[in-house]
Amino acid sequence: MIISLAQRATQAQEYYFSVKLAEVRKLMAAGHDVINMGIGNPDQSPSEATIAALSHSASQANSHGYQAYKGIPGFRQSIVQWYKRVYGVSLDPETEILPLIGSKEGITHISLTFLDADDEVLVPELGYPAYRAVSQMVGANVVEYPLLEDQGWQPDWEAMQSLVNSKTKLLWLNYPHMPTGAPATRELFENAVQFAKKHKILLCHDNPYSLILNQKPPISLLSVEGAKEVAIELNSMSKSHNMAGWRVGWMSGAKAYIDAVLTIKSNVDSGMFLGIQQAAVAALQNTDQWHQAQNDIYRSRLDAAKAFLKALHCTYDESQEGMFLWAKLPENVLSAEQLVDELLYQKYIFIAPGFIFGPKGQRYIRLSLCMPAERIWQAVQRLG
Ligand SMILES: Cc1ncc(COP(=O)(O)O)c(C=O)c1O
Repeated sequence: MIISLAQRATQAQEYYFSVKLAEVRKLMAAGHDVINMGIGNPDQSPSEATIAALSHSASQANSHGYQAYKGIPGFRQSIVQWYKRVYGVSLDPETEILPLIGSKEGITHISLTFLDADDEVLVPELGYPAYRAVSQMVGANVVEYPLLEDQGWQPDWEAMQSLVNSKTKLLWLNYPHMPTGAPATRELFENAVQFAKKHKILLCHDNPYSLILNQKPPISLLSVEGAKEVAIELNSMSKSHNMAGWRVGWMSGAKAYIDAVLTIKSNVDSGMFLGIQQAAVAALQNTDQWHQAQNDIYRSRLDAAKAFLKALHCTYDESQEGMFLWAKLPENVLSAEQLVDELLYQKYIFIAPGFIFGPKGQRYIRLSLCMPAERIWQAVQRLG
């Protein structure tokens, strides 16, 4: 006998990487040396001070209890100082910050907090799959908004006007953009805030890549005047601080939005381990040189990744930011799915097909830079 599932569980699809990485593991168990350029999982360590802070905290007798739902004051204070230093934005540590167990969980809490069944959510036609999946899980309707490929994958604000109606509640934005690597610009953020105000919709900006291979100083959406009325921003320490497995990030925004999300969140988890919060405080003090060194490592991998794409006759934009390379397939390749499977089963190389980020990605692939350059060169050699 099997007890029936909720409708949302029958409709939701298992996360692509969860399925595909099981295939990768199977090949590895059979003795194949799979080069995994699929997922954006940083291979470098957090700073030494970060690890020392976790280790020290874990050794203290009073570190192991439940923590405040809103995080320790020291963590919120460090986030505020970091925001000021990195983005020049002032926030109130008491009321405008909510620590999160990764920004992926924040996407769920925000959706639970703001969306009713049948509300409409604007998601980019190419983007992080969780925006779409979670909107559907809470019964909202997903409306894809177009990105202009010939204008650096910026949202088509003109076309978006016609997608808005009285049910439109929330808009997901993410620049530097994953998967295309399109950089953030002040003009884009100003347009977004103006659009959200005009149509009275909540603008949720997901900002995990602003420090990775950025070609200009990083920007926060909250630096736009008046943004806090309609916008919230997610930041993650997964990529920028090499802490993906630690599960730590936060949400910034006006008190009313933070309080509302906290009400939902406090019914779901019971705070974040003190050691991780204390380690995050140390990580947020990483020097500019530390971040520079991480970027030097990513940059040193670009030549190999580009050689890999050239061997596949793919084309790509040089202005990409973040830890991936997004590339277009040549016309003679039938589909991304076929190429990905051929590479996996014939060459033991795993890359991400573009369609997992939305239908517009049918003829694209995404390479991750999260492995040593030698390993990427090895993949180039396997292509012959
Ligand atoms: C655009 C985007 N948002 C959010 C996340 C999730 O970040 P976190 O590890 O903080 O949950 C990712 C991870 O790949 C991402 O690419």
